[in-house]
Amino acid sequence: MTKVSPSMLSADFSKLGEELVRVEKAGADWAHLDVMDGMFVPNITFGPPVIKAIRKCSKIPFDAHLMIQAPERYVDAFADAGCDMVTVHCEAEGNPAEAMDKIRERGIKAGISLNPETPVSKMEPFLDKADIVLVMTVHPGFGGQKFIADCVPKISWTSEWAKKKGRKLEISVDGGVNPSTGKTCVDAGATVLVAGSSLFGSMDMASEISGWKAYGPTL
Ligand code: DX5
Ligand code: ZN
Repeated sequence: MTKVSPSMLSADFSKLGEELVRVEKAGADWAHLDVMDGMFVPNITFGPPVIKAIRKCSKIPFDAHLMIQAPERYVDAFADAGCDMVTVHCEAEGNPAEAMDKIRERGIKAGISLNPETPVSKMEPFLDKADIVLVMTVHPGFGGQKFIADCVPKISWTSEWAKKKGRKLEISVDGGVNPSTGKTCVDAGATVLVAGSSLFGSMDMASEISGWKAYGPTL
């Protein structure tokens, strides 16, 4: 079954804890937490103290997406805050490989992400350390953007890579995911759908999530 990870970026920040419970009750597999530093991306969201505070509200696995420079500085803080998965960007300044080593040393799952304009060759050196690949299908920084279909071949490439190497890899897709683009991604090999505006804007999040979970590859 396809996993669904609602992006809390589209939640009501004035009641983040309640929103997390809503997502868990709607059947989400993970909660996606978008951390932005105003440097790697032109927006700022929240960091470890907020994550630590909402950790008390739910047991759902926390899928942190670090859109920050030099992520190796903050691995311990995010692990201490209760993240179960921490994904860093291969384009980040500093040392994303060191960050991934530190994430794994903390006994949690490590992810590598790539922006729409980044070729898979830039991400490939990080794959041996990765439990998750997060393929960005919008330019990171803001929710509610249009899905960039040109990124779909990167999903297929990653899926082929994992098959060839016999590696168990979660392939997650983030940005502009809705029922139609989500199906395209699953058909290309995605195992996790991240979505903010489309899930939080839906009339019935639970039935939306259960519909997405039923997506399977048609190839
Ligand atoms: C964008 C974030 C996404 C964002 C997705 O920088 O990484 O997780 O919340 O939002 P939608 O689903 O609205 O494109
Ligand atoms: Zn994200």
